Amino acid sequence: MTESSAPAKIILLGEHAVVYGRPAIAVPVSSLRATATAEPGAPGSGLHIFAADLNQTLPVNVHSELVDNALIQTARLLLQTLNRPALDLVVTLRSQIPMASGLGSGAAVSTALALALNSALGSPLDRAQINDLIFQVETLHHGTPSGIDNTVVVYEQPVYFVRGQPLESVRIGAPLTLLIADTGQGALTKIAVGAVRELYNADPQRIQPVLDEIGALVLEARQAIELGDSVNLGKLVSRNHEYLKILTVSSPELDILVDAALQAGALGAKLSGGGRGGNMIALVTEQTAPHVRTALARAGAVRVFDTTVGVT
Ligand code: MEV
Repeated sequence: MTESSAPAKIILLGEHAVVYGRPAIAVPVSSLRATATAEPGAPGSGLHIFAADLNQTLPVNVHSELVDNALIQTARLLLQTLNRPALDLVVTLRSQIPMASGLGSGAAVSTALALALNSALGSPLDRAQINDLIFQVETLHHGTPSGIDNTVVVYEQPVYFVRGQPLESVRIGAPLTLLIADTGQGALTKIAVGAVRELYNADPQRIQPVLDEIGALVLEARQAIELGDSVNLGKLVSRNHEYLKILTVSSPELDILVDAALQAGALGAKLSGGGRGGNMIALVTEQTAPHVRTALARAGAVRVFDTTVGVT
């Protein structure tokens, strides 16, 4: 039996604008994971994926071209890429990452599965090839992804990401403590990305400068992160949320959580990921974390996780 896993992710700054070629910064959340365990199946039984959280068994037909389930798609693409027949294997998937909440659960589950299959086959694919494969799956299921989600999840390291450019890692000057709060409202990235596309197409002259502003603040934020300047970073994070509101991807619930976090002393707060529901993040210090956590719960967060980025 072999076990593989992949983390959740949060976008610190730059979501949506990243689809239009602006930079964005994302970090893995290593404490929240999707896990895949592979066990040999009976001879001739073929490949089965058991999605334990949904209690669903999915047989994988390698030769079908149907675009259906993202997990089947992941397994099929991997086997087709390697020109291998379906092996007699049962891969069981479990995830601690809430679905449809901006935390990259889809990319994490697909990555854990791809890593498990790759390892069962003797690891012929490297990280870059796994990353390309998960990007293909994301494209089939999410429309026009920038590639940031699969990149941060597959490489499991903080990334400064520009669409189509080689991966750049970000040096974390001082550890960042973040609270991640869930509105409890499911949110499909594809819908939010489509809404921004409509907005952009309807009035590019108004939206273009908003995307530029987001791009500029991501650049400044990278410097703040590298210098360990959490105070300036917090301001940039909150400013990013205001621009995301203009892009119509916030929601009343997200705004309530952002305001509650700021009033309780967070250095900065914003929605994270596709928006229109899902999760928000608050940049806090050790001292403010308990107050902000309580304020978020009082303001309606259904779950609050914490994560520290940059601790070695
Ligand atoms: C979703 O985590 C991030 C978005 O920018 C979409 C993408 O980059 O593919 C909203």
